[in-house]
Amino acid sequence: MLPWMVLSVLLCVYHAQATCPAGCECSEAALTVKCVSKDLQDIPSGIPGYTRNLFITGNQISRIGPESFKGLDNVTTLSLSNNRISVIESHTFTGLRSLRSLDLSGNQLATIHPEALSVPSRALRDLNLSRSLYNHTSVKDLATSLRWSTLGNLQGLDLSGNGLIYLPDYIFSHLGSLRRLQLANNSLVAIHNGTFLVLERLEELDLSLNAFRTFREEALQELDRLPWARLHLGLNPYTCTCGIEPFAAWLNESQARVADLERLACAFPAALRNTSILGVSEVPLGCHRAGEGSDLALQTSYVFLGIVLGFVGLMFLFVLYLNRKGIKKRVYDMRDACSEVWEGYHYRYEIDSDPRLSNISSSAEV
Ligand SMILES: *[C@@H]1O[C@H](CO)[C@@H](O)[C@H](O)[C@H]1NC(C)=O
Ligand SMILES: *[C@@H]1O[C@H](CO)[C@@H](O)[C@H](O)[C@H]1NC(C)=O
Ligand SMILES: *[C@@H]1O[C@H](CO)[C@@H](O)[C@H](O)[C@H]1NC(C)=O
Ligand SMILES: *[C@@H]1O[C@H](CO)[C@@H](O)[C@H](O)[C@H]1NC(C)=O
Ligand SMILES: *[C@@H]1O[C@H](CO)[C@@H](O)[C@H](O)[C@H]1NC(C)=O
Ligand SMILES: *[C@@H]1O[C@H](CO)[C@@H](O)[C@H](O)[C@H]1NC(C)=O
Ligand SMILES: *[C@@H]1O[C@H](CO)[C@@H](O)[C@H](O)[C@H]1NC(C)=O
Repeated sequence: MLPWMVLSVLLCVYHAQATCPAGCECSEAALTVKCVSKDLQDIPSGIPGYTRNLFITGNQISRIGPESFKGLDNVTTLSLSNNRISVIESHTFTGLRSLRSLDLSGNQLATIHPEALSVPSRALRDLNLSRSLYNHTSVKDLATSLRWSTLGNLQGLDLSGNGLIYLPDYIFSHLGSLRRLQLANNSLVAIHNGTFLVLERLEELDLSLNAFRTFREEALQELDRLPWARLHLGLNPYTCTCGIEPFAAWLNESQARVADLERLACAFPAALRNTSILGVSEVPLGCHRAGEGSDLALQTSYVFLGIVLGFVGLMFLFVLYLNRKGIKKRVYDMRDACSEVWEGYHYRYEIDSDPRLSNISSSAEV
């Protein structure tokens, strides 16, 4: 009797080890468990301990926490893509001692606790957060979590397709080992001072399909912090007015680093659509007037002064014209007055110059 009991217990244990949670497919040989598109609401329990690659994708999971991944020391690759995860609690992945690659793409993360992404001994190498944020407000939580979690060895971070309109300050400041950073398909318009401060080792940076109209000096300085990075800058709505000139000049110097040079074209104004940014320096953008601005202002002020003076002169002549009758009259009056005076003088002169009369007057004086 006893041997049978021992045997059945042993069989039970073996069976339990060999079992696979409902809705999942387990392959011990491949060390892989897949629970794909089964409407699971939670992470299934009883995932075998041998599992290295765990795919729980396309389900209805909304929340994950520290209890979700107990006893899975051997998992190196975890994909939770295309669920409905909106909450990640602190230390959710702390039990996954070997985790190197985490895929959370295609979720709706609204609440990410500060230490949500902490992984023991900084093991995590790749983190996929493509299309994973509920809205762009969540990026603040994410930035805090990227700083607080132990991601010092992270090499790949995918943040594409998240509708990001800005990057919070210091979001990448604790990711000094990062090699690949995907920020494509967002709505970024600017890169601010210090964004890429510690990312000297970056080998690939994708900023394509965003909302950049140009890259300002500040952004160009940030890109220059990344001497080894291949840059993807295409498919942005570049606006080829004066503001594009620093970028065009930078591009001319840095074109070897830009992987998708042929995709960098003006989107506005309509007349320059599809013109390569590199060719923009040969197109008159009407900028250089701005460069000679002071000269121009001076010339303008001279012209203006001339016009004002001319106008004042004209007004003067016009007033004279309107008063022409009065003036004529006054001129005649003056002439009459003058001629009277003149005649008076003339008369006195004649008297003065008559020698007889002068004799009389002088003898009278005597
Ligand atoms: C992890 O794998 C090792 C062998 O590679 C095995 O000895 C160990 O029991 C596994 N861990 C668990 C929790 O099953
Ligand atoms: C992240 O996941 C998406 C799909 O969910 C995939 O297209 C993309 O290639 C992944 N990113 C990386 C860096 O592997
Ligand atoms: C983003 O979602 C949160 C709820 O999680 C909401 O409070 C916030 O207003 C949303 N932000 C935007 C810009 O829609
Ligand atoms: C960009 O992201 C949106 C979701 O934010 C997605 O629907 C779209 O397919 C993405 N486009 C490309 C070209 O990846
Ligand atoms: C960027 O910030 C640093 C200090 O963090 C400062 O020294 C530098 O002048 C700033 N550069 C620009 C272009 O604002
Ligand atoms: C582009 O750079 C070359 C030198 O590398 C220089 O000769 C040329 O003038 C530059 N073109 C423009 C438009 O700045
Ligand atoms: C710009 O190029 C695209 C394809 O490269 C083309 O479909 C479009 O007609 C071009 N537009 C103009 C204004 O040349």
